[in-house]
Amino acid sequence: MSRAQVVHTPDEIVRIRRAARLTAEVRDAIPGLTHPGMTTFDLDQLAGELIRATGGKSAFRGYHGYPGNICISVNDEVVHGIGRPDRILLETDIVSIDVGVEIDGALGDTALTFGFVEPDADIARLLKGTKQALMDGIAAARGGNYIRHISAAVEATAKHYRLGVVREYVGHGCGTRLHEPPEVPNFVGYGKGPQLIPGMVICIEPMLNLGTARVTTDPHDHWTVRTQDGRPAAHFEHMVLITEKEPEILTWPKTM
Ligand code: MF3
Ligand code: CO
Ligand code: CO
Repeated sequence: MSRAQVVHTPDEIVRIRRAARLTAEVRDAIPGLTHPGMTTFDLDQLAGELIRATGGKSAFRGYHGYPGNICISVNDEVVHGIGRPDRILLETDIVSIDVGVEIDGALGDTALTFGFVEPDADIARLLKGTKQALMDGIAAARGGNYIRHISAAVEATAKHYRLGVVREYVGHGCGTRLHEPPEVPNFVGYGKGPQLIPGMVICIEPMLNLGTARVTTDPHDHWTVRTQDGRPAAHFEHMVLITEKEPEILTWPKTM
């Protein structure tokens, strides 16, 4: 893949908009159907049914061999957690769900983190800061800007909330494939990155940690990404269409 960015055609955007809306509906249905005492495997099965009811299929199942319908990452799990029959959800858990639906040659990809009870002050800061970092990143995603503007906005907000920014995983273009160019880091690196052109669709997805930014991948399942210090992490993701002016959030909201 040598292109710096993918610009979608109007016909593709019609289909991507629909896929993204359906994905957001599945995302928003899940928290109300999830309760302590159920296993993360049950949650994955439930999500699979919701995805099937859209007429589409999981965009994740089978992706590089990924075995789940959605990603379910609990507490210190940052991303790519797999539903397990031996993991019973507890009242005090925070649960990140990441949902992808493929339908009619287009895809949606969106995530959020939720809990079951009133969070303590640190968890509240983690959730609020990660959501805010996403919204600030989105506000920077204006046609003519560069990827760096988004990265800088996300990083500044993460810093303001004293949250660790995961560097190993980044946002990305999306639309007719799950991951398309460009990468959308949650931190500023070298250079401006590609320019934002109307018709691009990108996923902005801060993965922020209460403690260290450092993460490790589970040596057994080779998927689950955890914080190295065992402290909790949050993940919020929206898919946005770049326009001449403000971006259009294709996975807008309800629960965010
Ligand atoms: N949804 C993730 C993202 O936001 C990718 C998940 S890939 C999977 O980019 F294989 F783990 F499902
Ligand atoms: Co995702
Ligand atoms: Co994504």
